[in-house]
Amino acid sequence: MKKLPKTMNLTLKVWRQKGPKDKGHFESILAKNISVHMSFLEMLDTVNEQLTFEGKDTIAFDNDCREGICGMCGAVINGRAHGPEKATTICQLHMRKFSDGDTIAIEPFRAKAFKVVKDLVVDRSNFDKIIQTGGYISVNTGGAPDANAIPIPQEIAEKAMDAAACIGCGACVAACPSASAMLFVSAKVSQLALLPQGRPEAAKRALRMVKMMDACGFGNCSNHRECENACPKEISIVNIARMNREFFKASFFSSEK
Ligand code: SF4
Ligand code: FES
Repeated sequence: MKKLPKTMNLTLKVWRQKGPKDKGHFESILAKNISVHMSFLEMLDTVNEQLTFEGKDTIAFDNDCREGICGMCGAVINGRAHGPEKATTICQLHMRKFSDGDTIAIEPFRAKAFKVVKDLVVDRSNFDKIIQTGGYISVNTGGAPDANAIPIPQEIAEKAMDAAACIGCGACVAACPSASAMLFVSAKVSQLALLPQGRPEAAKRALRMVKMMDACGFGNCSNHRECENACPKEISIVNIARMNREFFKASFFSSEK
């Protein structure tokens, strides 16, 4: 078995952009003595420490849980949203996936609907706007109901859970040539449409969320399937087909316009 070096020296080509109006540019930064056991974000922490010692502006990037569950982190690494490892967010990506001497290009998620705030930080509040239009159910749930009160076939429950795994990171948008948000929206529509609790508002939900997605400036699905490929939670495009069915059904039969 090939023995890994304990540390690596890397050249980072990092996108630096002071604010939304700045043109932005790539900057070369040397990342020295990077442990192979670090996560990608820990590597950026180390580089930022070094930049602080040198009195330079640190690289701005988003993060929170660092466990692949909050959806806050995200960047395009060597042309791939969330980097080279499949089904992995950059907070869970380890530096052993790279080699000593590598040059790594790091850019923000790029899409008209995701404005760059600074460096690698983009504004994903358009996702919040979409959720606010219908990504919920309007019931007073009261106390915790008995788990068996509404029997749901296991296969359906599994499908709903798979859709609910979407963490709202936006990699699907960054990977899509049309910057479409359909994988994200379809996951949010599906997780509720599949369950009886989500059915009463299903038509309204599909119409409103799709309308808001368009209003926010996301593109249309172009069937490239890059979204599915880039998704760290392996959300399937089957959800897009389900959302389209929900949308067309609602367009014909719902009083909501
Ligand atoms: S569908 Fe996947 S890539 Fe898109 S926001 Fe959800 S988790 Fe991220
Ligand atoms: S920091 Fe939460 S998913 Fe990466």
